[in-house]
Amino acid sequence: MSIGVCYFPEHWPREQWETDVRQMADAGIEYVRMAEFSWRVLEPERGAFDFEWLDEIVELIGEYGMQAVLCTPTAAPPRWLVEERPEIRQRDRDGTVRDVGSRRHYCFNSAAYREETERVVRAMAERYADDPRVVGWQTDNEYGCHGTTRCYCDDCADAFRDWVREEYETVDELNEAWGTTFWSQQYDDFEQVDLPRPTPAQDHPAMLLDFARFSSDSVVKYNRLQADLLREANDEWFVTHNFMNLFESVDTYDFDEDLDLISWDSYPTGHVQQAGGETTTDELRAGNPDLLSFNHDLYRSVLDRPFWVMEQQPGDVNWPPHSTQPAEGAMRLWAHHATAHGADAVVYFRWRRCLEGQEQYHAGLRKQDGSADRGYDDATRAAEELFDLDHVDAPVALLHDYENAWALGEQPHAPDFDYWQLLQSFYASLRAHGVQVDIVHPESDLESYDAVVAPTLHLATESLADHLTAYVESGGELLLGPRTGVKDAHNKLRPDLQPGPLSELVGASVDQHESLPTQFEPTVAGTDGTNAEYAFRTWAEWLEADAAEPLLEYAGDDIEGGRTAAVRNAVGEGSVVYCGVWPETDLANDLVGSLLDRAGVRRMDVLPDGVRVARRDGHTWVLNFGSDPIAVTLEGDASWRLGGPEIGPFDLAIAETNAVDDLSVRIRD
Ligand code: GLA
Repeated sequence: MSIGVCYFPEHWPREQWETDVRQMADAGIEYVRMAEFSWRVLEPERGAFDFEWLDEIVELIGEYGMQAVLCTPTAAPPRWLVEERPEIRQRDRDGTVRDVGSRRHYCFNSAAYREETERVVRAMAERYADDPRVVGWQTDNEYGCHGTTRCYCDDCADAFRDWVREEYETVDELNEAWGTTFWSQQYDDFEQVDLPRPTPAQDHPAMLLDFARFSSDSVVKYNRLQADLLREANDEWFVTHNFMNLFESVDTYDFDEDLDLISWDSYPTGHVQQAGGETTTDELRAGNPDLLSFNHDLYRSVLDRPFWVMEQQPGDVNWPPHSTQPAEGAMRLWAHHATAHGADAVVYFRWRRCLEGQEQYHAGLRKQDGSADRGYDDATRAAEELFDLDHVDAPVALLHDYENAWALGEQPHAPDFDYWQLLQSFYASLRAHGVQVDIVHPESDLESYDAVVAPTLHLATESLADHLTAYVESGGELLLGPRTGVKDAHNKLRPDLQPGPLSELVGASVDQHESLPTQFEPTVAGTDGTNAEYAFRTWAEWLEADAAEPLLEYAGDDIEGGRTAAVRNAVGEGSVVYCGVWPETDLANDLVGSLLDRAGVRRMDVLPDGVRVARRDGHTWVLNFGSDPIAVTLEGDASWRLGGPEIGPFDLAIAETNAVDDLSVRIRD
C-alpha cells in the first residue's frame, strides 16, 4: 500500500525540483505521477523532442528512492499541432468547434490524431523503455471529461456509419432492429445513417443507444492504440487510465483487456455536490462515504484486483460550486477508506498549488510558497499507517450495466429518475450493513456470490434471464429492482409484459407503471401482518403475482392502494425478490437485510449515517465521516491495530477481526 503524488515539474524552476523531491520522500511518498499535459514542453516543434527535463526529474526521483508513473500527454494537443491539423478538433452537436485553449479538444475518431498520438506515445515509450525508475503509465487523462466522449465531427459521422455496418448486415436489418417505421424514419441506405443531429422532436431511442455504444467503443479503441504501443516497448510496465466519479459515457468494463490496473480520481467534497439532492455539512467537509466507495468498488471490480486512486483531493478544490475546506484529517480518512475498499495506492493531486492557469484555486499538498499545506500532514500520516494487504473478498454483487444507464438516461420518464441514484439506494443499504460489494456486469460469473442485487436491469435478453435463473436455481439469493425487463437489446419495448424474459423467474408481471412527483408521498406496507409501512419515491409498478407470493402492497386509498408492489418467488434452491418501487432508506434496508439473512451473509445492524465499516484481508476499518464522535465495542478475539474504541470526528480505527459482526458501533452520548 503506497502513497503517491502528482507533480508538474514543468511549472516550477529547476532549482526547486530537488527540494520538492526531498520533501516528497520525507513524507513517505513512493510514486510520483508526471508529464500529463506536457506535450508542448516535450515537443516544442514537430519532431524536435526534448526529453532532457523529464530525464532529469525521473533521475532525481530515483535518487530519492521513489518511482515514476508517466502519463502520455495526449489530453492536451499543443497549438502548433492544432494549427497544422485543425481536423483533429471535436465538434459539438450544434457544429461548434471545441478549440484549443483548455484541454481535451481532440476527437477519438480522427485519423490525423491517431497518427499524432502514435508518434508522441512511441517516442516517450522508447525513451523510457529500459528505465527502471519508470514503473507504469497512465494513458491520456480522464477520457470523456468535460463532456467529450461524444463528438459530432465528420470523422465521427463516417466512423459511426462503419460501426453500424459492422453491427447490422443489411439496412433492412438495421430498420428492423431499431424500429424505424415509427414517424417514417426508415433508412434506404447505410449512407443515410448520421450522428444525432438537431431535430424538432425527441431523438430515436434505438439510434441514441447505438450512438452511445459507438462513442464508448471509440474511446476504448483509442486507448488500445496507446496501450499497445506502451506494452510493445516494455511489457513489464503497468498501463492504467484514470477514470472518474460515476462516469457514465464510457463503459469501463470494456477496458479489461487493455489496462493492467484501473485507477480513478477522487474528489469527495466535489462529487457530493455533483450528485444532486440535499447535501449535509458533514458531506461538504468529507464527502459521502457510500458515493466514494461505490466508485472504489466499481473500479476494483473491473479487473477484480486492487485499484489505485490516481488523484486524491488534497484540500480545497476549484471546480465544484462551493470550494469547502475538508474537515481536519479528511485527507487521511480518504486514504484509509480507499485502502479498505481495495486500493493499493493513493496518489494526491497535486504536489503544490499552481501559480498559473485554470487551477490556481486548487490546493496541493504544499502551498504556493512551498510550505506544507493541510493535506501534506494527512498524507504523511497515511503513508506511515498503511500497510500491504490482499484483495477484498466480497460476498455480494451489485449488477451494473452502462447500457442501462444510457437507455434510462435518454428516457428517464421522471425528472428525478437518475440511474446512479437508484443504484446508490440499494448499494447504501448493503454498506449500512457493513457488507463488502463487488459491482459487476450482469453477465459476469455470479457463482462466488451468496447474494446478488440488481437495482434495475432495464434492457433484458433471454440469455440474461437464463443466466440469472441458473444462479437462483443453484441456491443464489437475488433482489431485483424496478424498471427491469422493459426493453430489448436495441432499446425497443419488448412484446411480452415486463419483466419480459425474467417473468418466469420472478413469478409475476407488471400490469402498470407510473412515475410519481413528490406531492404523492407514497408508501407501501408489508403483507405479513406486521403493518410495517415504508416510504418510496419516484417509481411504482403494479404487479400481478403468478407463482410468486406478494411481499408488499401499496398503502392508502389512492388508485394503487391494495395492489401488489413487491413479490418473492422461490426457485430451485434459491429465491428472487422483485421490488416494483424505488425504495427509500428504511425499505431498502429491510429488503437488503432480509436478503443477506436468507443468503447467510454475516452483517451488522444498520450503521449510523456517515459511519461505515469495511473489511479487507482480516482487518476491519471503522470510518467516521461524521462530526459526532462514535464508540465501538469489539467482541470475541478482535483487537485494535490502529486507534481504539473511541473514534473522533472524521477519524478512523482499524481492528483485527475475521467478521464485520465482531463489532458494534454507536454514536457517543
Ligand atoms: C481532474 C483532472 C486533473 C485536475 C483535477 C482538478 O481530476 O484529471 O487534471 O484538473 O481534476 O481537481
